[in-house]
Amino acid sequence: MKSAAIIGLGDIAKVHLPILQSMSDVELVAVCDINPDKQNIAGDVRFFTDAQDMLDKVKPDVVHICLPHYLHYPMALLAAKAGSNVFCEKPLALNAAEAMQFAALEKDYPSLRFGICLQNRLNNSSVKMLDVIKSGHDGKVTGVKGVVAWHRPKAYYEASPWRGKMDTAGGGVMINQSIHTLDLMQCFAGEITSLTGNICQLLDYGIEVEDTATARISFANGATGLFMASIANSKNDNIEIGITLENAEYVIADNALFKLVEGSRELVCEDDKLPGKKFYYGASHAKAIGQYYKSLCDGTDDYIHADEGVISMKMIDAIRSSNGGAVTL
Ligand SMILES: NC(=O)c1ccc[n+]([C@@H]2O[C@H](COP(=O)([O-])OP(=O)(O)OC[C@H]3O[C@@H](n4cnc5c(N)ncnc54)[C@H](O)[C@@H]3O)[C@@H](O)[C@H]2O)c1
Repeated sequence: MKSAAIIGLGDIAKVHLPILQSMSDVELVAVCDINPDKQNIAGDVRFFTDAQDMLDKVKPDVVHICLPHYLHYPMALLAAKAGSNVFCEKPLALNAAEAMQFAALEKDYPSLRFGICLQNRLNNSSVKMLDVIKSGHDGKVTGVKGVVAWHRPKAYYEASPWRGKMDTAGGGVMINQSIHTLDLMQCFAGEITSLTGNICQLLDYGIEVEDTATARISFANGATGLFMASIANSKNDNIEIGITLENAEYVIADNALFKLVEGSRELVCEDDKLPGKKFYYGASHAKAIGQYYKSLCDGTDDYIHADEGVISMKMIDAIRSSNGGAVTL
């Protein structure tokens, strides 16, 4: 049995909460939010408004970090010093430099485990696509395309103003909404040599962070990638990731993996679907959290380690600084 605590009781904590409460080998022992109005979100679970106080008094085995981005690394460090393992929501940190500090915690605290919630890696479609690539049956990857056309109303930034500011969010559509797509693109196509990108604001929300980003990615194996993401769409379309191999073409779309055969889509496998309005989170949080706790209990290494969250941060930094010129990674 492992004891767990959640810090930050906003939108994503509502996904972690029922998962933890449904796990037979996990006891949710405390929750924490600076906002005292969140006191009853987890029923009668012990509530704190100060994370250090909670760590000192409860000493949970695992801390779930569900906080604004600028607090991810400082809170992970605080938890590590208190002897707690960390399961952190994406992104790892505000930028690549801080992400590397976070990843270094794995070496500084070797008895603790630092997991990063890049749950879309565990979607059935992602796992199957990686199997296809690794099998070599269809040849090497020659191209990958990621398209995220989502909608975030102005109210989304008004509800949590940290989301619209560089010093608290570290960016907009790239770090907040499309980081999973950037991550999957590099999972599929491999090591990146350089990126050329542009970011802009198409909306008049008066926020600091980009709402739209594009990039061309060059991979070490010669493949190229095209990335397009925006929250200026009128609705949340399903993410589309196209993968071209030497001898076949695949697309992840509409929560499924398809092989393109003579212009038609042949279903390879379907993702589990998350019911409700937040379907676009995907349904793999439970898999990512379950995998992390299984590794803690079994002593195995099979979970998404913090250092695996550094690469998407480097991609984001490169696109931000590119301004249309190639940036070497
Ligand atoms: N994995 C995914 O698909 C996914 C989806 C949505 C959000 N997220 C991530 O989850 C994290 C949280 O996002 P959100 O949308 O839930 O944010 P939110 O603004 O809804 O919630 C953040 C909560 O943290 C609390 N908080 C702020 N400072 C605190 C502190 N010092 N101590 C304790 N509590 C504090 C706030 O009061 C708020 O309740 C972000 O990293 C975001 O990128 C991940």
